[in-house]
Amino acid sequence: MSGGLVTAAYIVAAILFIFSLAGLSRHETSQQGNLFGIVGMAIALIATILGPDSGNIGWIIIAMIIGGAIGIYLARKVEMTEMPELVAVLHSFVGLAAVLVGFNSYLDQGIPMEPVMENIHLTEVFLGIFIGAVTFTGSIVAFSKLRGIISSKPLMLPNRHKLNLAALALSFLLLLMFVCTGSLGWQVVALLLMTVIALAFGWHLVASIGGADMPVVVSMLNSYSGWAAAAAGFMLSNDLLIVTGALVGSSGAILSYVMCKAMNRSFISVIAGGFGTDGSSTGEAEEMGDYRGTTAEEVAEQLQNSTSVIITPGYGMAVAQAQYPVAEITEKLRARGINVRFGIHPVAGRLPGHMNVLLAEAKVPYDVVLEMDEINEDFSDTDTVLVIGANDTVNPAALDDPHSPIAGMPVLEVWKAQNVIVFKRSMNTGYAGVQNPLFFKDNTHMLFGDAKESVEAILRAL
Ligand code: TAP
Repeated sequence: MSGGLVTAAYIVAAILFIFSLAGLSRHETSQQGNLFGIVGMAIALIATILGPDSGNIGWIIIAMIIGGAIGIYLARKVEMTEMPELVAVLHSFVGLAAVLVGFNSYLDQGIPMEPVMENIHLTEVFLGIFIGAVTFTGSIVAFSKLRGIISSKPLMLPNRHKLNLAALALSFLLLLMFVCTGSLGWQVVALLLMTVIALAFGWHLVASIGGADMPVVVSMLNSYSGWAAAAAGFMLSNDLLIVTGALVGSSGAILSYVMCKAMNRSFISVIAGGFGTDGSSTGEAEEMGDYRGTTAEEVAEQLQNSTSVIITPGYGMAVAQAQYPVAEITEKLRARGINVRFGIHPVAGRLPGHMNVLLAEAKVPYDVVLEMDEINEDFSDTDTVLVIGANDTVNPAALDDPHSPIAGMPVLEVWKAQNVIVFKRSMNTGYAGVQNPLFFKDNTHMLFGDAKESVEAILRAL
């Protein structure tokens, strides 16, 4: 394939990626968006493999078969609830790839360049390895926290912000040394030292972020992986990799910003490692008084006597796979003239849009699924709220306790309804590790058990 044809294919692929992002921003067009992305990536891969810069197609095809087989196996096996972990691991691969491309690009300099071009190339290599290394260890820590391998509590090292600043300042000095020194030995020392600092910096940055801020971290790492890919694109002089990396980098950064706004967090504080949160109070169940239990039959009767019902699903609905009986209950109650709607918190579950995906899968009509901002004012006029496997996203401590790790995060104000039924298996805390005063309020009843079994029992009683 000639260079001109490859460039034309890259332009088509880049346009398809932009259409893909536009499609993915709405439920109704998301499948179409996915399709654009798949076609764009297929065109990009074919053009790159058959292009003039590729050598050894045999090796590339072997690597693609192995990588593709692992990808298909993982995608078929992974549960919806494990999706963020998978995404975190994939980000770590992008980071590692940028580091390897960087070292390769430094070691294999090819034809000698003009001094100015040489400096630009060295800066690209340095920045590519830096961003890649930060993304690599940051993503591994994010994966370990999401998997529960390490605690989701923030690591609070003394002077942690000064440590971060020192790492950045030192890396900048090493960049100057790397570009300005003429000595090969000192260049290698600067590059290796910076790599170690960047690996530690990425690890510390994510380790010092608390559980409730993890959604922002995952999308920030998504953004970093995009910039790492763009940096690799500069090193390999591949225009499409630069464009694609920039698209991923900027859309990840915009998503993080939107999430921070939704959670009332300062963008800078989250990416600087939980700056400004003391996270001193997590609340103990014993201090909060007694809670009241209920049965599926009682809840069924309560629902029959209601005229308006709001369901607020959370991570537990995903774990229990309760969306199908939840969709059935919704249909049954709506057929009886009861106004049933859903209230979705922006970070409910473990990935952006998690609840929307599950409800769409169970064919719940889009028009009864409302965002938190659209429904929060309606709780006071609601007879019954069913909190199905949600915890942090309905925790009043976020508004009432300034020392809570989730202080300031807007939540679904379910406690304003006349009756609240909480579906969960125990009195355990949610992801942020904070006890929930909602469970101890007079108008709240706990329905203990697996959410799917509880909803099915209510269905039978209806
Ligand atoms: P969580 O606060 O995580 O609480 C989920 C609740 O579901 C738990 O209290 C658990 O209690 C219950 N549960 C688990 N399995 C269940 C089952 N089989 N049946 C019934 N209940 C079950 O959920 P949330 O309100 O959705 O909040 C999400 C949290 O995750 C937030 O802190 C958010 O910041 C964080 N997070 C979100 C994302 C994104 S992007 N959405 C990414 C990473 C982290 P029991 O164990 O007692 O049953």
